[in-house]
Amino acid sequence: MTQIEGLNPFRPGDGQRPPYLAGRESEQGRLRKILAEISAGRPPAANMVMYGPRGMGKTVLLNWLVDEVEKTAKHNRPLRTVQSTPTIFPSLKSLWNKLISDDWKEKLWPNQIELGAGGNKIVWNSKAPDDDDLVSALIEECKERPVVLLMDEAHTMEPAFCQALLNISQQARQNAPFLLVLAGTPGLRHFLSTVNASFIERSNVIGIARLDAQATADAIVKPLNEHGIEIDADDLERVVEDSQHYPYFIQLWGESLWDLAKQKELQKLTSEEITEAETKVENRRSNFYEQRRATLDDLELLPAAVAIAAVFQNTETTTRDRLKEIIADNLPADSLATQSVNEHLQTLIRHEFIWNPPDSILFEAGIPSLMRYVLDRQREHVQKVSPASLA
Ligand SMILES: Nc1ncnc2c1ncn2[C@@H]1O[C@H](COP(=O)(O)OP(=O)(O)OP(=O)(O)O)[C@@H](O)[C@H]1O
Ligand SMILES: [Mg+2]
Repeated sequence: MTQIEGLNPFRPGDGQRPPYLAGRESEQGRLRKILAEISAGRPPAANMVMYGPRGMGKTVLLNWLVDEVEKTAKHNRPLRTVQSTPTIFPSLKSLWNKLISDDWKEKLWPNQIELGAGGNKIVWNSKAPDDDDLVSALIEECKERPVVLLMDEAHTMEPAFCQALLNISQQARQNAPFLLVLAGTPGLRHFLSTVNASFIERSNVIGIARLDAQATADAIVKPLNEHGIEIDADDLERVVEDSQHYPYFIQLWGESLWDLAKQKELQKLTSEEITEAETKVENRRSNFYEQRRATLDDLELLPAAVAIAAVFQNTETTTRDRLKEIIADNLPADSLATQSVNEHLQTLIRHEFIWNPPDSILFEAGIPSLMRYVLDRQREHVQKVSPASLA
């Protein structure tokens, strides 16, 4: 029996490239089309906004986009990506430093920049160019070398910073191939509409949702097979179903199965290993859910979350009005004095308990099975408090 070699290829975590990026063909197709346009020197018709609950694979898709851009290195007009988050570039100045490349800065303002500490960071000196100069410089550079600016975790931007960024993007995009891609959790949609009322409608919006069953199976089985590990169709089906097609759980499953195969030196996983892996996955998942439940509790939104979860036991989607009714009926009276029902609804969206994908007006569960967990914990709690209710 051959030993299974190497490190575990599955990467349950944060933005880690999965061993097989499954089920994003349509999103990748849309992104490739825009890259082809800007590669040809054409300003993109709109900015891009990508949103979806945590763990769905937004950062993975942004990283994929960076790899695609790198493939243009040998083209006539190679593209350049600037990868950012509000924490990496908290100020506009730090962002400008990256948006305009170091060689371009040297070329345009040879006497107005200086090397910072360590010699690897360029900082503007007191005679720094003003915003108009910077936008013009960006436009000129983009004509030669288009820029794709990726802002991950965009829902955490300061509103003033976001506003400035949207202005830069609008000016640059009118004149040159410059693409702004904003990615974030479902709260991003509301956040952007508070900064600029019509921004979302005028953007190219991609919802990052769960995978379908086939893509889920591929994401698990392809990396296993590559390492010589087999799994029967029935067992795979069990894994696919339990993962709820949620990318983060898919990686948890893959990791556990691969570890077991290596540990037991197995080239064929049986239902025994699936059961063993299930326990491990379940433990990790419970921690993950418990943290989210605690957050809802801290926000005093747990009773509303439980009532919403009860509704979702019989349906996959519901309307905004129905959710608002449930929230209004399940809030402590004083919390309605300080925040409106709409604000509480936005909080539940921000914490990904519910979300509505871009192509739908209906709401669905955010992180799968968090609702089931919240309900189960509530039942346990009720039984502890009043055992008679068991009868
Ligand atoms: N298409 C995919 N196929 C298989 N695994 C994936 C896919 N997309 C993401 N993953 C895996 O899912 C996990 C979450 O991905 P990622 O961190 O990109 O999610 P996210 O949406 O950016 O989450 P967050 O909002 O917390 O930043 C990672 O372990 C990643 O490897
Ligand atoms: Mg991410």
